[in-house]
Amino acid sequence: MIVTNSQKKKRVLLGITGGIAAYKAAELARLLIQDGIEVQTVMTEAACHFLGSTTLQALTGKPVHTQLWDESVNNSMAHIDLSRAVDVILVAPASADFIAKIAHGLADDLLSTLCLARNCPLMVAPAMNRQMLENPATQRNLTTLQKDDITVLGPAHGIQACGETGMGRMLEPQELFEAVQNFFQPRLLEKKRILITAGPTFEAIDAVRGIINLSSGKMGYALAQAALGAGAEVTLISGPVCLTYPAVKKFIPITSANDMLTAVKNEVIFNDIFISVAAVADYRPAIAHTQKIKKSDNDLMLELIPNPDILQYVANLPNPPFCVGFAAETENIDQNAESKRHKKKLPLLVANLAQEAMGADDSTLLLFDDNGKHILPKAPKIDQARRLIAHIAALHKQHHS
Ligand code: C5P
Repeated sequence: MIVTNSQKKKRVLLGITGGIAAYKAAELARLLIQDGIEVQTVMTEAACHFLGSTTLQALTGKPVHTQLWDESVNNSMAHIDLSRAVDVILVAPASADFIAKIAHGLADDLLSTLCLARNCPLMVAPAMNRQMLENPATQRNLTTLQKDDITVLGPAHGIQACGETGMGRMLEPQELFEAVQNFFQPRLLEKKRILITAGPTFEAIDAVRGIINLSSGKMGYALAQAALGAGAEVTLISGPVCLTYPAVKKFIPITSANDMLTAVKNEVIFNDIFISVAAVADYRPAIAHTQKIKKSDNDLMLELIPNPDILQYVANLPNPPFCVGFAAETENIDQNAESKRHKKKLPLLVANLAQEAMGADDSTLLLFDDNGKHILPKAPKIDQARRLIAHIAALHKQHHS
């Protein structure tokens, strides 16, 4: 029987280092196993102080390795054998000490040795106290890891085990699981550069008030994630949202439509594909007061002026990237979507029903391109994003062949 790539069992080596977030690695292992991924666990000595290896052994159905000098391995080459038998190594949590070791090529225990001896990609999910993370030494080490093509997942902001609040929390098991799933996606956009706008824009009325569209940013962030999985180099320009951004090449936070336009103008020439998912406010107040407007009993008139159409600007450039627009419609989806596509001169427009999609985790997508209409039936946004990326990759290839 011929085993194709998609049928082949996916294999992950899960490295666990010493940190309170180690308990979350058990949940991560469970998610991976449930998805049919084979998990081999390696724990450092410090990790074993936080979490019992029996837990991981029971979850993964495989003995957990902790020692460099393992007599059960016939050739005493556990560090080589283990790293050769997997598609990717994910270290979660990765402590400051472990990151420092990897950055300097140290190899004084099983996990660091097999990372040094690996011939597969390595991903690390840092987890540490915020001050350890902010320390210039840790920052230097993380930069070194990135230069060495090691994927750094997170960390996130939030309450820490030590009681402090700040950057340094490990990403949640679900987020790490999605990063692993991403890793196994077909590399349909290898070496392609993609610019994505996401979230709403915020248009200031005064120092404390503003106009904002309802947009969670979930679809744009899912597309950034899916594009990364497809091997693309992603730049994400985002309005204010409450999401952790994926490990993109460049993340540019903005506030207003004008800020977004400036950022897009700066970035667009470096990109092959532009996906405009952002819910850009169509209007902004003619005057943004720098002081808070005092409350009174009188009516207050607000003069609104139109914002620039960012997507239209990009699509009309002399040498535009492959442009994809989004349209959230409340009625007459087909007619509105097709007329928007033609007006903005887009090879592809993705429409959804605003009432159904806003803030939700699932959505139905309708794709309009020169070949007609395609429906992506209701599914989680990350799955829709992966399907959409596959569609974009196919169209982009057609356009350039
Ligand atoms: O708001 P509208 O339905 O026209 O949005 C369609 C597409 O145009 C979306 O992809 C949106 O990101 C983009 N757009 C934009 N700048 C605007 C308004 C919309 O880039 N000012």
